[in-house]
Amino acid sequence: MKRLFVTMSCAVMLSGCGGNGVARAAPKVIVDSDYNTLSDDGQLGVMAAQLQAQGKIEVLGITVVSGNQWLRQGVADALKSMERLGVGDRIGVYAGANYALAHPNSEIRQELARFPSGDGYLGAWSTPEPTSDAQLVAPPDGFATHTKVQSKSAVDFIVDSVKANPNQVTILAIGPLTNIALAARQHPEIVPMIKQIVYMGGAIDVPGNTTATAEFNWWFDPEAAREVLRLPIKQTVVPLDVTDTVKMDKAVYDRIAHDPTRQTIITQLFKQLNGYGFDGKNGFETNPNYTTDVWDTLTIAWLMDPSFATQTEERWVDVDTSFGANDGKATGYASSPPAGLQKMTIVKRFDNARFFDFYVDLLTRPVPVKLP
Ligand code: RIB
Ligand code: CA
Repeated sequence: MKRLFVTMSCAVMLSGCGGNGVARAAPKVIVDSDYNTLSDDGQLGVMAAQLQAQGKIEVLGITVVSGNQWLRQGVADALKSMERLGVGDRIGVYAGANYALAHPNSEIRQELARFPSGDGYLGAWSTPEPTSDAQLVAPPDGFATHTKVQSKSAVDFIVDSVKANPNQVTILAIGPLTNIALAARQHPEIVPMIKQIVYMGGAIDVPGNTTATAEFNWWFDPEAAREVLRLPIKQTVVPLDVTDTVKMDKAVYDRIAHDPTRQTIITQLFKQLNGYGFDGKNGFETNPNYTTDVWDTLTIAWLMDPSFATQTEERWVDVDTSFGANDGKATGYASSPPAGLQKMTIVKRFDNARFFDFYVDLLTRPVPVKLP
């Protein structure tokens, strides 16, 4: 019976069969994230847990980095997120880098003063850095009560996970790339063992968001972005070029926040935290065209099914790290790239209707999540 059980449980973890009928193992994934409760990083955390429940993914862990929020707050939000989903004992949270490699506040302020531009979103840099847990902001349903951050650092977890699963680990890099840069610097031997990196980051042929030229994740740590994008491994970029065209509108929002048949703690928090503009003050009734970004969530959709991408291009990608108006700016060369760059896939357009069906389904599934 035990063997049958083991066989059955393995079958549950396998995500469908390859063309020859041989089951493929579920992709092993590290989510490297500037985590938040239920903006795009937190939404991806929910989607990943629900996909694992379906045996379609194996989340090895969540490694947190400063970006949207300071590291300490991001870790607290990730711990509660996993506890809220009922998977805190299965998906570990690892603390990573608190500061960028070389983009300090002093430089950021000088750049913004001399070259003002962008939407003004500075993430962690627009809030005081918490120096103790007493200064953290609790999620609406409180901090995690029994789920603790792992003792191993994010960098050591990345390195150990890649070495334990050579050529099998996909890193979903949905925040600043500091953790990955440090892992590659300290243990270059893991680089050829990483299966692939899928980024939400960069603005290739469109304007940036935090500045007129740079997208937030890569602007927050330009040096890390430049180093990681130059690593000789398989890479796919989900930049603002596509995320700017895949926005959640009122119809999508209502399918999550207001479906009476699929109400969960997640849908209630989604309404509470993302309802502004749709249900909230100065909301949809004043702006029927209000939409909001879902940035990071496109990366896990692409990982599950690359055909969500209806248009892609192959480019060699670089990131500017020079002080000034272009700090963090991404450039995608279609030909004749400068030395040292890697060719990678740039996602330019998505099948929006099919993506939002995928997105809505995963954000409205039952909670707690029952992992195999
Ligand atoms: O520019 C979009 C990125 O910045 C996303 O990863 C979002 O989470 C924010 O961090
Ligand atoms: Ca993010």
